[in-house]
Amino acid sequence: MSILTILEFPDERLRKKATDVVSVDEKIKKLLEDMLETMYESKGVGLAATQVNVQKRVIVIDVSEDKTAPMFLINPEIIAKDGVKESEEGCLSVPSFYETVKRAEHVRVKALGKDGKPFEFEATELLAVCVQHEIDHLDGKLFVDYLSPLKRQRIKSKLEKIHRQERSNS
Ligand code: NI
Repeated sequence: MSILTILEFPDERLRKKATDVVSVDEKIKKLLEDMLETMYESKGVGLAATQVNVQKRVIVIDVSEDKTAPMFLINPEIIAKDGVKESEEGCLSVPSFYETVKRAEHVRVKALGKDGKPFEFEATELLAVCVQHEIDHLDGKLFVDYLSPLKRQRIKSKLEKIHRQERSNS
């Protein structure tokens, strides 16, 4: 397994739209393992392939307290949703910023598992937020897109400043 580099906002590559996985082969399984390790290393609860610059519809999630319940979602789709709920979100691609976002409270999701077989599940609470947030990534969308232009611009400027400092220090 290896740790992958996570792209950070406002990197334009985060805007690319991911394409469906055609076959769940060894390459995809390796990607899933690397993404999981990268997510755990960064203390995240979800990671989409787009964030590691791979344009495939692949997501890893683990919302368990002790990080022992990884979920692998390939070609995930929300097939039903209801309710509206606001919650605070963060993102490994927008480090250290947390903002309130409104999303569906309850979703039903269809995906392929690591074994290539289709499955469905219901999600509420943090898992519902996480699935919607990660599927957005596959469509080139970030949680900051739900904020006011002013707030988004503020976050963009601060991160650009940090990235400039990082570059000059390296
Ligand atoms: Ni994210």
